[in-house]
Amino acid sequence: MNDALRQETERLQRTWMTRDPAHLDSYLVSGPEDPRLNLQSLFSRHFLLRQLAGKVWDDLMSRECRFAAAMNWLTECARTEGDTEALAAVRHALEQDSDNAEGILVPTFLRRIFRQLPGDVCGLPVPNYITEFLEHTAFVSGKPILPYAGIDTFARLWQQALAREPAKPSATRLKVLEPACGSANDFRALHAFGIADRIDYTGFDLCETNIANARRLFPETRFQVGNIFEIPAPDREFDLCFMHDIFEHLSLAGLERALEEVCRVTRLGLCVGFFNLDDIPAHIERPYEEYHWNTLSVEQIRKAFLKRGFACRIRNVGAFLQEELGCEQTHNPNACTFLLWRPK
Ligand SMILES: C[S@@+](CC[C@H](N)C(=O)[O-])C[C@H]1O[C@@H](n2cnc3c(N)ncnc32)[C@H](O)[C@@H]1O
Repeated sequence: MNDALRQETERLQRTWMTRDPAHLDSYLVSGPEDPRLNLQSLFSRHFLLRQLAGKVWDDLMSRECRFAAAMNWLTECARTEGDTEALAAVRHALEQDSDNAEGILVPTFLRRIFRQLPGDVCGLPVPNYITEFLEHTAFVSGKPILPYAGIDTFARLWQQALAREPAKPSATRLKVLEPACGSANDFRALHAFGIADRIDYTGFDLCETNIANARRLFPETRFQVGNIFEIPAPDREFDLCFMHDIFEHLSLAGLERALEEVCRVTRLGLCVGFFNLDDIPAHIERPYEEYHWNTLSVEQIRKAFLKRGFACRIRNVGAFLQEELGCEQTHNPNACTFLLWRPK
């Protein structure tokens, strides 16, 4: 690593190490970032699940995307309306298949999903999680307390689905790397959904506080302090690699180095979640305090992966929601996931 990257590493360490352990433990696992409902977290789980079981669970995956879109709309509605009467009105409108809940516009996509509930998928019963949400969300000082039974619907369904697949012996499991894993933010869902037991997972993060949090939650799992600029692993050591929300926080030189490193250690495929990507010709570097908050160019990122031998499919979350589900609401129009494969 050269001096510039060494200095950047020190600045990144200072940035993340000054944060409170309790804040690091919770800030990326709630609200729109809740990995049970965040579309980019779903995409990375589905990326792993396709490797584990091929296309067998594709219907369950597409139902889960609808579930997430519905729950995100409902959560936002509960947050903005702030009381049980509004949720009761939405429930009544859905039951009447009406788009008007006493002035709240009930979107077509939600009504369509509601009509299909309860239902079943891949032989698994899907409960009416929308009614569950509307009936059981409570409010404290106008803030919604979400019903966990409803939000965990797909954690239970995936547990049941995976229980049907024989588990591979640990020595033959896919080796999966997650750089910048935070406080096991996405791993919590991998664990709750029954996926963690099926893979050989390693997570690393530059911030020791995050790794201490992760180890406290999952003492049996391999969480290490590590730097994406210098991953201590041989070439193609991991079958798969997934990560979220790291590249925009690096200098452009750091970005190049990090891309090089994650491609170097990955044998088959990567799933990379970005939070600030745009259709612009070149990256915009924006130093912020001791780190960065860059806007990255979709085309430049695509070329960077192509140069390193990976073909890609690009999924903008907003476009996916609109085109696949007819859902207009997205919490971040710049959120985009790259699904990347080494061509056979
Ligand atoms: C925005 S957070 C994302 C955390 C997690 N991936 C998620 O999406 O919930 C960025 C993470 O990158 C980590 N990080 C920053 N620079 C890093 C580096 N050079 N190597 C490894 N991790 C780094 C930070 O400590 C922080 O946990």
